Amino acid sequence: MRPLVHRGVVKGSVEASTDPAAVTRHAWGELSRLLGLLAALVAVLCILVFVVVGHALRPTGQILAGINRLADGDLSCRLPRFHLSELQRISEVFNEMAERLQTTTQERAELARKLVDAQERERSHIARELHDDVAQRLTALTFLARSIKDGVGSSAPAVSAESTELVAMAASTMRSLRDTLTYLRPPEIDDLGLSISLQELVAGHKRQLQGRIDFMLQTDGILDTLPAETAAHIYRIIQEALNNAVRHAEARNVTVVLETTSEGPGGEIHLTVTDDGRGATPQDLRRSAAGVGLIGMRERVYALSGRMTTESSPATGFRLRISFPTRFEMRGVS
Ligand SMILES: Nc1ncnc2c1ncn2[C@@H]1O[C@H](COP(=O)(O)OP(=O)(O)O)[C@@H](O)[C@H]1O
Ligand SMILES: [Mg+2]
Repeated sequence: MRPLVHRGVVKGSVEASTDPAAVTRHAWGELSRLLGLLAALVAVLCILVFVVVGHALRPTGQILAGINRLADGDLSCRLPRFHLSELQRISEVFNEMAERLQTTTQERAELARKLVDAQERERSHIARELHDDVAQRLTALTFLARSIKDGVGSSAPAVSAESTELVAMAASTMRSLRDTLTYLRPPEIDDLGLSISLQELVAGHKRQLQGRIDFMLQTDGILDTLPAETAAHIYRIIQEALNNAVRHAEARNVTVVLETTSEGPGGEIHLTVTDDGRGATPQDLRRSAAGVGLIGMRERVYALSGRMTTESSPATGFRLRISFPTRFEMRGVS
């Protein structure tokens, strides 16, 4: 407050006072400018952090992609070098692991191949022995029985009846021996081709079961261009799967689908054998450790560098799924 003085006389006074609302408005104006600046700063910082962290973590995307490729069975996948030392260490460990996995898988495939080759040779040997020895003896036995029958004529009816029975027994033993030989002998896939060999296999089952089970075989033409060894493995796997469906499943329908797809570097072959039988419990499958069927199949699948899964439930029966690459590499085992 200031007095107004005119010629030494106080005439009045001037009073100045502040308006709180105006002060607040002014202060808020300043503050909002500052806040705007701060918000812009925070936004810039956020973008900066996002870009920097994104850049620093970009290798984790590559690591994740590598792990996924490995999980999908691409064992040739390797990670590049990274600048960050921790990530570089992860990359080294990953590459060592993939290398070891690739070697072990190749060795296992090679061993499985040798094992099934030995099995195939052994089967051929047994088939030859049965054919050259047992079958010849059976034929000789039949002739002997016939000659006894002819020799005694009607003078000894009891001996004659027994020799007739002997001939019949020898004939039925010969039939079952032929079935065993057909099972044991390597299929003539080289001459017939896989498709026809499989059709004959299915036709054989149909004949034996006289329509009690419906078999459906669906194959695709390219199969006849497969290497003989691969074709023999496929034949044996389907042979065992059909035997299992007949022996264990009590099924009405069995379907075999064999098709090629363009997945993977050189394409893949998919085999599915499905039946609508009673299915297998996990215990049944575990018990197969004592048997040879499913294990033999698995060895063949390893030899083909493939994958095998079984699905089973009482509602849907049993399904065997096998996939393997059309072309696969083999490396010697030292
Ligand atoms: N299609 C199927 N349906 C039901 N059970 C099956 C089928 N295939 C296999 N199994 C079960 O799995 C077991 C193992 O089969 P496998 O290894 O071929 O041996 P094996 O035929 O000599 O018993 C069989 O004993 C059976 O219990
Ligand atoms: Mg079996």
